[in-house]
Amino acid sequence: MSPPPSQAPQAEPTRKTMSRPLAAGAIILCVISTIANIYIFNSFAKQPKILTFRNMVELRRPNQFIGLERVEMHPEARPILIYPSLLSQIDHAEPYRVYGDDPDKFAAWGGLVAPEDRQFKVTPQISTITEFQAIDFKMENCELTLIMPPNFHPPDTSRRDVLDIWILQVSHRLDIGTLSWHNRPKRIRKIDSVSMANPTNYTYKFGCPLNSLHAFEFSAGNHATYLEWSQDFNNPIPAVVMIQLPST
Ligand SMILES: *[C@@H]1O[C@H](CO)[C@@H](O)[C@H](O)[C@H]1NC(C)=O
Repeated sequence: MSPPPSQAPQAEPTRKTMSRPLAAGAIILCVISTIANIYIFNSFAKQPKILTFRNMVELRRPNQFIGLERVEMHPEARPILIYPSLLSQIDHAEPYRVYGDDPDKFAAWGGLVAPEDRQFKVTPQISTITEFQAIDFKMENCELTLIMPPNFHPPDTSRRDVLDIWILQVSHRLDIGTLSWHNRPKRIRKIDSVSMANPTNYTYKFGCPLNSLHAFEFSAGNHATYLEWSQDFNNPIPAVVMIQLPST
């Protein structure tokens, strides 16, 4: 039996002791930095406003066409059909009701409506509000258009539907999640009263500078008006749309 290897003498653990003034300095530094952190945290918390998803509508849109004015344009740009960015109802009888575009509501409404499809409805109590944004370069002539099928109503001469069309005052995009009769945008003026007894394709022309917003209200022109359709994104007839035409 070999003797166990002799144990190496244990190395004395080296232990550096911090000098007292240095330790005191470190503690003071910690305290100062903690105070600074609290101060910075508080000063951020005091900032007036943190943007949420709902505030996004207030953001300014940057110009996405930088330098495009130097490009030679095709002389015959084709008209563009713009689907409403918002089409929703407000109800005089239920002033706080928000129609919104919640898919669940659409599901309740027959379950057959695709998310891009929107309801148009006008009765003496209910108006439809629509909003369009003109975002195409040098396409600053616009037309609000009602595209109607030739046989919209069954042959019935007693119909007396009249649509009043209003321009609304909007400074930033409307929020479909909060829009109700109570907070509806102000009417600027009535554009027209259109008989829908025998509907035709109605057009209203207006100027639409780049990135401008345009909102309209369709309301009942008399107590007999009752119009309703589901607007199909892929086959917009009947539909409210905007046509954007080239400008020079
Ligand atoms: C309106 O225009 C659409 C397509 O542009 C057309 O199919 C429809 O027949 C027109 N409606 C009327 C009432 O003329």
